[in-house]
Amino acid sequence: MAVSWYVVAFFAASALGASIAPNQQIFEKSTCGRVWVTIHSPNIRLPGGGNLHDAIELNWDFSTCSNIPMQIGLFNNWPLSWSQALAVYTVDSSEGFVITNVSLGESKLPAGWNTGTGLKGPHCLWPWVGAGDNHIRAHNCLKIQPTWMEDNAERINKLRIGELVIPGTHNAGAWRFDTEISTLSRDSFVLCQDRSIWAQLVHGIRYFDFRIAYYDFYPREEDRYWLNHNLIRVRPLVPLLREIRAFLDSTKEVVFLDAHHFPMGFYHQDGAPIREVHMGLLRLIQRELGPHIASASQFATAHGTRGPTLQTLVDSDRRLLFSYVDNNIVAGNRWLWPILPHLWANTNSPVELFQYLDRMIDSSPQPSSRSPLFSAMAQTTPSVLDIILLRGSLRDNADNVNRNVTSRLASRWRQNANIVSSDFFLANDVVDVSIAISVDRSNRL
Ligand SMILES: *[C@@H]1O[C@H](CO)[C@@H](O)[C@H](O)[C@H]1NC(C)=O
Ligand SMILES: *[C@@H]1O[C@H](CO)[C@@H](O)[C@H](O)[C@H]1NC(C)=O
Repeated sequence: MAVSWYVVAFFAASALGASIAPNQQIFEKSTCGRVWVTIHSPNIRLPGGGNLHDAIELNWDFSTCSNIPMQIGLFNNWPLSWSQALAVYTVDSSEGFVITNVSLGESKLPAGWNTGTGLKGPHCLWPWVGAGDNHIRAHNCLKIQPTWMEDNAERINKLRIGELVIPGTHNAGAWRFDTEISTLSRDSFVLCQDRSIWAQLVHGIRYFDFRIAYYDFYPREEDRYWLNHNLIRVRPLVPLLREIRAFLDSTKEVVFLDAHHFPMGFYHQDGAPIREVHMGLLRLIQRELGPHIASASQFATAHGTRGPTLQTLVDSDRRLLFSYVDNNIVAGNRWLWPILPHLWANTNSPVELFQYLDRMIDSSPQPSSRSPLFSAMAQTTPSVLDIILLRGSLRDNADNVNRNVTSRLASRWRQNANIVSSDFFLANDVVDVSIAISVDRSNRL
């Protein structure tokens, strides 16, 4: 039964064609508009006490449809009929979402990806969404996209890296404390993610914004490098590099690693770089990722252009690009990619964030830019007062913007966005929307 439906739905979906990548059509289908599943980032207080973590959200956008479906439901399998729904809600607007009372639960990665390399192609976690009237006419699932670049290679490989849309994570390493004193996985103002680097890669994230710090009190040099959020130590660096290495070793995907900020230990008081600390980091990166590194001296294109094509990187099997925020160090180490411009609104107001990003994405990249890439930092930044007064949390902040990030990327940012890095990325649909837009852009070349 499952097999025949798979085939029927696949052919039905391929007739629709337009902008969704072929592999995505298997799991995502709709006669018009879209539905998708996200994960609610804040906790929900339950009336009887206790907290609901990772509540499943159902989202819809039927704004292009002549009539909107009556209802939307949560399913634990391919949605065939309403009688199988775990919960059903009325659709009362052309665009919207509902937060269910159902938790994602332990979200084991499917198709063999939980512990190592699994089957190629997108795969569904358990939650599915369906919408329609008597019949379900739109469906989708919460997915992993472990091999989306390879799955779509025939179409997107001709794009230059600056022409792709690349889903990224802000403060990628800040997902759970792993220090001598803490293994905390939820807090208000430090942790920006809640999936490991491996899980982020498997979900489809291809750009990591890393904040690296150096603590000289560890005897072994490799133990001195940490991922931080500002001045707070979160996790040691080397194990994360090994997760990236394992992923690069077993896939054909391209990964962008960005040393975006060195909050501790990399600079003298007068601002001059401490060369030995920088060189120690570069040696570690070479040691752990060396065979995969695409050297800027070999692959960079002229200033103001959009860099090598995916094809070039994949053909030469050099699929890790490392950009570095200090141009003095870049000047002496020509394999490093130059400072990647970060569009940072530095505001705690969602309205100002979107005004800023709308304007900056339209005018990026700068014609003289040395980097072919630029990153839209799609999250608000708490003020010092927010932190002192414990006003809100990074999870609440992410919740206030992530739905708009999905809809902005699909519309206003569609033409020009490159890297979009967010907090708690499962609360938006940036991975699937990025893949669809990249395919769309390549179709127009
Ligand atoms: C979730 O549960 C609460 C109380 O148990 C209820 O009031 C609320 O309507 C439920 N929400 C949804 C979306 O089902
Ligand atoms: C986010 O989207 C909602 C729904 O479309 C809209 O009402 C709201 O104004 C948007 N917020 C921002 C800051 O753009």
